[in-house]
Amino acid sequence: MSDRGSRTLAHRSSHWRFLREFLRAQRTVGAVAPTSHGLARRIAQLAGAEAAHAIAEFGPGTGAITGELLAALPADGRLWAFEVYPPFVAHLRATIEDLRLIVVAESAEAIAGLRERQELPGFDAIVSAVPFSLMDRAQTTQILRAAGQALRPDGIFVALQYHPRYLAPLLRAEFTVVEREVYPWNIPPATLLRARNPLRVD
Ligand SMILES: C[S@@+](CC[C@H](N)C(=O)[O-])C[C@H]1O[C@@H](n2cnc3c(N)ncnc32)[C@H](O)[C@@H]1O
Repeated sequence: MSDRGSRTLAHRSSHWRFLREFLRAQRTVGAVAPTSHGLARRIAQLAGAEAAHAIAEFGPGTGAITGELLAALPADGRLWAFEVYPPFVAHLRATIEDLRLIVVAESAEAIAGLRERQELPGFDAIVSAVPFSLMDRAQTTQILRAAGQALRPDGIFVALQYHPRYLAPLLRAEFTVVEREVYPWNIPPATLLRARNPLRVD
């Protein structure tokens, strides 16, 4: 089978997988389908993945955004992907063979401990597709704060959300600069938020 044919099949099977897991754990999974290629590519662009050395991803699911981040990331780059839902952790580990990817089976806020343990100088970018609007508000703040503290001073946080207004005020409480764009070629249209200059740094 051609490369394109097997990619299409893999994409289709990840759609079914995603829908099945959504029906089992709606509030954790948060969407009925994985992110489209075009939207995932736009997220990788906004994160500056092509020039990054260390990226983190919150909520990789079946790997739609992960794949585009890895496609853009330089050969010596690393991507740490934090996923809480065990079937997705197993799926990522079984389907993506790339030594640059480290799947972390922990919630997003664990990024603070990971950075310390591994003595990383800081992430160039953090990308999130976690369904914040379905989550406890205190946990959202904890995750955003941990992200701000784990970034390099010039690092970027990019969040994909389907609730158009929920996250921006919470982001503004943690970052000085918050930009918003709507990606209209998606049903429903997706909101992309890009934040820089965290307010609280250690
Ligand atoms: C809307 S899905 C996005 C999946 C994938 N990134 C995509 O775009 O197709 C949200 C993902 O966030 C994960 N998630 C939910 N809460 C999380 C948390 N606290 N930390 C890490 N991942 C989380 C879910 O298990 C799910 O994989």
